[in-house]
Amino acid sequence: MQATARAHTNIALIKYWGKRDEELFLPTNSNLSITLDRFFTTTSVVFDRTLTSDQFFLNGKLASGEETAKIARLLDIIRKMGGKDIYAKVDSDNQVPTAAGFASSASGFAALAAAATKAIGLDVDEKTLSIIARQGSGSACRSIYGGYVEWQKGEKEDGSDCYAKQILEEDAWDLSILSVLLESKQKKVLSREGMKRTVDTSVFYDGWLKTVEQDLQVAKAAIADRDFIRLGEVLEKNALKMHATTLGADPPFMYWQSATFDVMYEVQALREAGIHAYFTIDAGPNVKVICRPEDEQAVKEAMLKIPTVQDVFICHPGPGITYITE
Ligand code: DP6
Repeated sequence: MQATARAHTNIALIKYWGKRDEELFLPTNSNLSITLDRFFTTTSVVFDRTLTSDQFFLNGKLASGEETAKIARLLDIIRKMGGKDIYAKVDSDNQVPTAAGFASSASGFAALAAAATKAIGLDVDEKTLSIIARQGSGSACRSIYGGYVEWQKGEKEDGSDCYAKQILEEDAWDLSILSVLLESKQKKVLSREGMKRTVDTSVFYDGWLKTVEQDLQVAKAAIADRDFIRLGEVLEKNALKMHATTLGADPPFMYWQSATFDVMYEVQALREAGIHAYFTIDAGPNVKVICRPEDEQAVKEAMLKIPTVQDVFICHPGPGITYITE
């Protein structure tokens, strides 16, 4: 009863920002991401009758009780589906520099959902896998698929119509996504907490909800037409709007640091110089810059000249879940 699976991280172009159900991880709005080739999590799961509790090893080290509890919660869902009450040993290897501002939770929970369902003997399709992964971390439901992925918010209370699906394969349109690692302090407001505070208190949250569906439609049409400038403009606007909602929360908060502004201004300067580059930012200070592959070296060099930039990792659209047989 053993299986190993790999899942890649993803970056949202249209953000998931707010839950309508916190237990089931149902979002307030549909959203869209690109799965990335460079960063991934590989997870092995063994269900073992001799175990008296779940064990979770992260990069070879026994994880804390809090981290193990999150894993156990998803394993409980899978045990229930599989009709087997057996504890598991979970070994996760993260090829995700956590400091690079990529949440490893998306690739982590996607890989766990895939490995654990297989290990317990369930034969699940990608849609079901997406629904399971979603209940570990919302953005994980998108990492089941490669390329360009839409997570549909669904309408039903039980979340059965709330899952992701691929809208374009990874090799159908190449883009460059530069992960710009900044000199920054530890983030203070985690995405889960920030999203909740925004939904509960932000005076700007209505504005987000009123316009995010339109942003999504523009992004989807731009992807279908391979219209890079249209996609870039809407993804940057959408990220700025998401961050604006945090300023209207009570108490207000902000994920940006001064280095974040340095990168945003440099991206604008690049555009003024004729290079089409656009930025997006998740729940932390680091910035991802999106450009055409032919511009990636010029954009990387411009980023590395900024004194507060530590490193730049170039990514491209990557694959969905893969199973590994040793
Ligand atoms: C800003 O998926 O990490 O990166 O569902 O609470 O685990 P939970 O949140 P998570 O949130 C990601 C928020 C975001 C935007 C996005 O990825 O769409």
